[in-house]
Amino acid sequence: MTYIAKTFNLPTLEGFSEKQIKVHLALYEGYVKHVNLIMEKLGAVRAGTLELDPYIVAELRRRFAFEFDGMRMHEYYFEQFEGEKGGSPESALAKAVAEKYGSGENFLAHIREVAGTRGIGWVVVYADPVAKTLHTTFVSDHEVGQLAGLPVILALDLWEHAYMVDYVPAEKKNYIDAFFANLNWSVVEKRFDATI
Ligand SMILES: [Fe+2]
Repeated sequence: MTYIAKTFNLPTLEGFSEKQIKVHLALYEGYVKHVNLIMEKLGAVRAGTLELDPYIVAELRRRFAFEFDGMRMHEYYFEQFEGEKGGSPESALAKAVAEKYGSGENFLAHIREVAGTRGIGWVVVYADPVAKTLHTTFVSDHEVGQLAGLPVILALDLWEHAYMVDYVPAEKKNYIDAFFANLNWSVVEKRFDATI
């Protein structure tokens, strides 16, 4: 099989230029392309139709997680902007948020604080169906530091390519404002509902 780049049905996004979104989507498509390329090469090695130095094979296996997570994390990212903005204070997510963070405002403040981590990466909010709680973490390289097996319910891209067409690094805060202005909380709630 091969992965196919998704087409996202994005509304007009406040605080993002068309160019910013276009270059970011092109970057996402690059991840999909490279996932397929690595799968193809490793598949040929398995089938015995391609012989590569074992060091190269090992490096391709390591790189696979970088390309795959880059692909999947961007799907989480762009899907969050799709559809009509919603979100309910009565949702199961709102209850889980209140339990861990005290309130929705505290949750947002916490995400912003984590987003202030120096360097490139992602703020990722996971649901842990085992402990019935949420975890908000900073993942630098997206293939390292993810929490095993936990579903991602929110992904905030903080790699500079996500905002540097529209904002300079010192304006990262403005990008985060734009992210939240466009985030469809119903998508996040649905992801959380699927975990309980
Ligand atoms: Fe990105």
